[in-house]
Amino acid sequence: MFNIYFSMYRTHDCGTLSLEQLNQTVTLSGWVQKNRNKGFIVWVDLRDRYGITQLIFDEKRTPKKVFETAQGLGREFVIKVKGEVIEREAKNSKIATGDVEVLVEELTVLNVSKIPPFTIENETDGGEELRMQYRYLDLRRNPLKDNLLFRHKVNMAVRNYLSESGFVDVETPCLIKSTPEGARDFVVPSRMNEGQFYALPQSPQTFKQLLMVGGLDKYFQIVKCFRDEDLRSDRQPEFTQIDCEMAFVEQEDILIQFEGLTRHLIKEIKGVEVSKFPRMTYNEAIKNYGNDKPDIRFGMCFTELNELAQGKGFEVFDNQELIVGIVVPGASEMSRKQIDELIDWVKRPQIGAKGLVYVKCNTDGSFKSSVDKFFSPEDLKAWAVHCEAKIGDLILILSGETKTTRTQLSSLRMELAERLDLRNPNEFAPLWITDFPLLEWDDESNRYHAKHHPFTAPKPEDIELLKSNPESVKANAYDLVLNGNEIGGGSIRIYDQTLQAFIFDLLGFTKEEATTQFGFLMNAFQYGAPPHGGIAFGLDRLVAILGGEETIRDFIAFPKNNSGRDVMIDAPGHLNKDQLSELYLKSTAVSKK
Ligand code: AMO
Repeated sequence: MFNIYFSMYRTHDCGTLSLEQLNQTVTLSGWVQKNRNKGFIVWVDLRDRYGITQLIFDEKRTPKKVFETAQGLGREFVIKVKGEVIEREAKNSKIATGDVEVLVEELTVLNVSKIPPFTIENETDGGEELRMQYRYLDLRRNPLKDNLLFRHKVNMAVRNYLSESGFVDVETPCLIKSTPEGARDFVVPSRMNEGQFYALPQSPQTFKQLLMVGGLDKYFQIVKCFRDEDLRSDRQPEFTQIDCEMAFVEQEDILIQFEGLTRHLIKEIKGVEVSKFPRMTYNEAIKNYGNDKPDIRFGMCFTELNELAQGKGFEVFDNQELIVGIVVPGASEMSRKQIDELIDWVKRPQIGAKGLVYVKCNTDGSFKSSVDKFFSPEDLKAWAVHCEAKIGDLILILSGETKTTRTQLSSLRMELAERLDLRNPNEFAPLWITDFPLLEWDDESNRYHAKHHPFTAPKPEDIELLKSNPESVKANAYDLVLNGNEIGGGSIRIYDQTLQAFIFDLLGFTKEEATTQFGFLMNAFQYGAPPHGGIAFGLDRLVAILGGEETIRDFIAFPKNNSGRDVMIDAPGHLNKDQLSELYLKSTAVSKK
């Protein structure tokens, strides 16, 4: 019960009453969840945020008018009742108020309701799109409501922890200039500046750096960010970051500070203690897991087999850049059908492998493989030893071009983990990934892109390589991975204007472009910028993972669907002619009138 003092609407909430209030007269308000009309008796389940209380209307004991009104109460009507708390004949141990019911004397219908388009129960009959359209009704259901309460709890724990650690919550603007985080910007036309546009922030990156130049020292903000990119279950066009920045720090300081925050959250929210977070370099992650956000709750680390598997006459392997396998523990008894299913799975266009080689390490010590024709039992044994496969295990092997094959095997590893139930949502395995490359070559635009963003500092020992071998330069950047999801990323920043100008040049910005886009930052760097660095967590992802799930939509009150639409308010929408012309947008193609 949360501060519901005496009010005309309620003396208690719907999750509170027990035998303690027996014989008391109470007032409750809420929604009609269920109406069971037996003719001479009516039971109504009354629901609010806190729970459900059963109301009883009895032909003999309830005033006639009240009884008749009760008979006509529909689902989701909003009512206020006054009555006496009595002991239930048939108790319900499943709900907190299950020992009692309220014998109603007064009933006010505060509002009627149309029949809701889906049942407002924990298990609903409504499809995803319909529930999105009537999100406000979906929010009345426990699973969604509980997710929002859970998000609030995480949010408050973050705020309290950071505030107590000396971080200052500062709001930064939403109508800004483009910030290069790698996605497209959402833009807003300016009425007062013909032909000019604001961009919505992909992150407050440049502002938080300016706050460091401004001497704020430790900043945080729980902030909306906007990115016009393709959507996935862990991506929304507007999402929330826990954005942080600190002055006078090096990488180690940031890792320790935010390892502290993450450990605190996992303990406070889930009651789970996590010891020191392991660290892995980007190159190790790619070589051993095929991606830069490995789920390390389970093994199945990659083993490369080129040396053992090539030169034995098996052409599929002989000319490939990489032959790499994983060991599936205890899976040697997988049936032919199950293996064929896996082969079909890797051959799907989304994965794109040409085939899959398997080796069963049978429990009788023998080996059975799909390539027995080319490899002797001794060969297969050598593979098993190299992969550290045990008796009863199954080795699965892919081959091909290095990058593609690693990506394919990484997908197979995750798929197997799902099928074998190895991803325990109550286990938390955080991991720092460090030593990212500073730059990435992009074939399409024929130039380098910043792997993190253009303000990221190179490792000091690599600065010399910037001219001779830019691709080999490592960044002072890090990601925080939790259970196979990237929940945060950050870097130590460049604070020297000459180096920053050099990096802009390397990234293909002309002097003019750099000045137009980032002149304000370069100017600020001329007035005593301190060394600084930071990180941003994806709050939606963090909350979802702590909640044991990976789909962030279920933890956002009003999310967008997969086409970036809000189907409830029907956005985006057209503008009328007047609005368009005021914004100097002349095209009538997008106009309604
Ligand atoms: P980055 O781009 O890595 O870094 O973003 C930080 C974190 O935000 C989350 N995230 C998203 N969550 C939901 N939907 C999206 N579309 C989405 N995009 C990103 C991820 C990610 O790890 N300014 C830098 C941080 C810094 O350098 O301090 C930045 O934004 O969990």
